[in-house]
Amino acid sequence: MIVKRVCTLIILVTARYTNGENNGSFPDTFLFGVAISSYQSEGAWNVDGKSESIWDAFTHKNPSPIKGGHNGDVACDSYHRYKEDIALAAGLGLDFYRFSISWSRVLPTGYDNEVNEIGLQYYKNFVAEIRKYDMIPVATIYHWDLPNNLVSIGWDNLKMVDLFVNYSRVVIKNLPDVGVWLTINEPKQICHSGYGDTLLAPAKNSSGLAEYMCAYVVLKAHAETYHMYKEEFNNYTAKMSIVIDCQWYEPLTSSAADKEAAERFINFECGIYAHPIYIGDWPIDLKFRIYERSLMENYNKSRLPELTLEEINYIQGTADFFALNTYFTYMVNDVPEGDPNITSFQNDVRIEKTYVKGAQLGANGFPVVPWGVYKMLKYIKNAYNDPVILITEMGFSEYGLTLEDDLRILFFMDYFNATLEAMFQDGVQVIGISAWSLLDNFEWVDGYSAHFGFYYIDFTDPNLTRIPKKSVEFFKKLVEKKSLPILENYQNSGADNKIFNSIVNNLLGIFIIFYILFIQ
Ligand code: BGC
Repeated sequence: MIVKRVCTLIILVTARYTNGENNGSFPDTFLFGVAISSYQSEGAWNVDGKSESIWDAFTHKNPSPIKGGHNGDVACDSYHRYKEDIALAAGLGLDFYRFSISWSRVLPTGYDNEVNEIGLQYYKNFVAEIRKYDMIPVATIYHWDLPNNLVSIGWDNLKMVDLFVNYSRVVIKNLPDVGVWLTINEPKQICHSGYGDTLLAPAKNSSGLAEYMCAYVVLKAHAETYHMYKEEFNNYTAKMSIVIDCQWYEPLTSSAADKEAAERFINFECGIYAHPIYIGDWPIDLKFRIYERSLMENYNKSRLPELTLEEINYIQGTADFFALNTYFTYMVNDVPEGDPNITSFQNDVRIEKTYVKGAQLGANGFPVVPWGVYKMLKYIKNAYNDPVILITEMGFSEYGLTLEDDLRILFFMDYFNATLEAMFQDGVQVIGISAWSLLDNFEWVDGYSAHFGFYYIDFTDPNLTRIPKKSVEFFKKLVEKKSLPILENYQNSGADNKIFNSIVNNLLGIFIIFYILFIQ
């Protein structure tokens, strides 16, 4: 265990691979894990002193905003079955297990004056169980399930900064064996989909306004937690970061306007969080664009809160590595200025997105584009001073209720290969990947209709039995050998078709050359 802890530390500070050829193998030090979150898996929504979170309140609404009227009341019941789940992860031979902590299970009022000891004990046991298998516990402090008691304050209010820091202090203090801390998962989803839209709780629907305030508050809450951690827990060795979701946007045409639009969109979603942390201040195009558009709409200043010099310095550098979630890619083009009477994110960003031709879609609509992952990784290296990157999520939701998840196998083959290309061709410092997800689980608005797990769960069956899909063996072998397996072992997959196609194409090429040289 000690060896693994020391290794994690070393790996997290250095991950330079010599540029060379991608032969399908990961470096020996590469870390594999799986990721899951509290609301999506734990269930036990009102058990042992846990209070209601905004996701409990959101999914209990009538009519339900969730597909099929599903909710996370029971989910995978991991609250009661965490030992079984951690054993499954260990069975895959993983190096780490990424999970999240439910704020309202630990602090039912949201404030730190009242700690729910049973809830806290649950996470202590959870971390110990992961350590028992010599895996590294990677803990996300906040994965969207705010205590409902705090909803009237909310992430668009600066009061949240203190509340989050206080909550973080309680969990950090009580879970000293956590190996990596991730403060907040995907601020873009929290702010854009939760405050700028109605897609995620608390569905504030204040596009172009509350969502930027939220971005500002989240950044400050993260930065203050980071500083608190480094000052108050300087005997801890675990590294800390924030999980930023960045998707690749490819210009639809080679026009300067489309190139700018694609870059602008990346900055509106990913740079808005990454730039202040890894470079300092908001991205310049974002700042200018929101300012310009705000004046056009008759506001007297930018709707994007200005960062003071003091804030810029305080936020800059508050991550020990880059924690990246990446799933999909779209083509993007510039569109004309929208109606100046309407304030919205869309009118600020001024883009349109379309599918990449031929891209396979996951059951939840995410288009699979491996070269987008390659470009995204290269972009992060170049834009953010070549950080060490831990891919904290990538995954595929399979169609229907199948155990033959060939498309997931193909997805991981292609996305992992794209990652290797970025590492070996371009020297991008990727140190590990966690696959989303170990189990089929509650997929937010899609309820239980999108299946991201290596293990299938029939959520209508009270036993909630974890049944391995075909990808379990695939992933296990990959982790064991630290290299991409030969696809022939996974018969009937789309992957086989790919190999078949490439053989056909090569034969075709040989025939054409033969024809030109000898027959013509
Ligand atoms: C989130 C997960 C989610 C996954 C698949 C990420 O945005 O962190 O909670 O289930 O994507 O949609």
